[in-house]
Amino acid sequence: MSSHGDPIPMTSSACGPLSGVAEVPGDKSISHRSLILGAMAVGETTITGLLEGQDVLDTGKAMQAFGAEVINHGGGSWSVHGVGVGGFAEPDQVIDCGNSGTGVRLIMGAMATSPISVTFTGDASLNGRPMARVTDPLALFGCQAVGRAGGRLPMTLVGAADPVPVRYTVPVPSAQVKSAVLLAGLNAPGETVVIEEEATRDHTERMLAGFGAEISTEVTDEGRVITLKGQPELKPQHIDVPRDPSSAAFPVCAALIVPGSDVLVPNIGLNPTRAGLFTTLREMGADLVYENEREEGGEPVADLRARFSPDLKGIEVPAERAASMIDEYPVLSVVASFASGETHMPGVKELRVKESDRIDAMAVGLRAAGVTVEDGPDWWTVTGLGHGHVTGGVTCASHLDHRIAMSFLVMGMATQKPMSVDDGGPIATSFPIFEALMGGLGADIQRGG
Ligand code: S3P
Repeated sequence: MSSHGDPIPMTSSACGPLSGVAEVPGDKSISHRSLILGAMAVGETTITGLLEGQDVLDTGKAMQAFGAEVINHGGGSWSVHGVGVGGFAEPDQVIDCGNSGTGVRLIMGAMATSPISVTFTGDASLNGRPMARVTDPLALFGCQAVGRAGGRLPMTLVGAADPVPVRYTVPVPSAQVKSAVLLAGLNAPGETVVIEEEATRDHTERMLAGFGAEISTEVTDEGRVITLKGQPELKPQHIDVPRDPSSAAFPVCAALIVPGSDVLVPNIGLNPTRAGLFTTLREMGADLVYENEREEGGEPVADLRARFSPDLKGIEVPAERAASMIDEYPVLSVVASFASGETHMPGVKELRVKESDRIDAMAVGLRAAGVTVEDGPDWWTVTGLGHGHVTGGVTCASHLDHRIAMSFLVMGMATQKPMSVDDGGPIATSFPIFEALMGGLGADIQRGG
């Protein structure tokens, strides 16, 4: 089932070379943060290039429920009139974050140190995901949470009336948890310190600094120690959202496996905490070139040129790279199916608690399509068959997970028989123009099973 409405089965069939320019949408992580930080600033933040996927739209609606004015000016241009740190009003409705773990976890952090009660819910996928990883550290500030068994949504949080600052070591590599604690720290007096042993995406830290918060990061023996001074006045910003490397992954990977392809994916943010997939693909022998490398808004950016790569090899993906490509393992497993030899992916326990259990969701579909996959609690190995040898011809469950649906549709572009997904509806959460964009490059994606 799609998150809203009837399931939308989709089928992808082998196609001729993919070619042209793939203008992928804005970065999902930065889009959520733009709306939330805009709502916590005093005055008007303007945003261009916002991802208008359902996840981000749900966060925008939530910010309105907290009292911020969120206006869509059309064409990806938005403004947020913020209420200031500590200025959130108590919403008079349940906050429905749809499919978005990032949305709900960051918003929980942002409200946790205000004296308001908020009830959160989501779709069947989100309501099955663990929230204690966020509500445990928020309790240290004085925020109380009551949810369903196992710390699941729906859940009500009562924000701390007299918050205290916190020093917290994040026990799992999660930018969502780190960000929730930092956003809660905004309305606590004194210094909140978050320590992460493994570096995860650092957009919250960069953007908080941009909004005028006092925040610093020190790399020590403990890991990355991030210190935030509480109760700043955040100054409104103009944010030009860079394009999403996690969405770029789909046309890039499709070009690598479809014979004769040559695709340009311009203006992709290559923040090192996000770019692990591209490093991995190059190690596998992908013809993937960074063109026009430059800096924009303090972030490295390049145009990616991906061409058909007939001699891909399986590799060992270093566990320490996992956080920088955590959302890209599903589509990497597709590329690995067309490589020769084993691609071993260790250190990926977090994949089991995403929008779906992504190892399981991919392993079931890949095996049915003729690929050998082995897996354990925190690792998986895909044994590739080489170009032209992957059978396909199966219908896969997308489990309300946009990246699972898009990965199997990319796979069908190069398998002997078409690949179908039971529901492509969730694609709209992060990449609403996926079908049109891939079709424009020459892909054959049809509605129907
Ligand atoms: C995100 C962090 C990651 C990622 C998600 C977006 C973010 O989740 O999977 O799609 O914007 O902070 P975790 O922090 O749970 O690893």
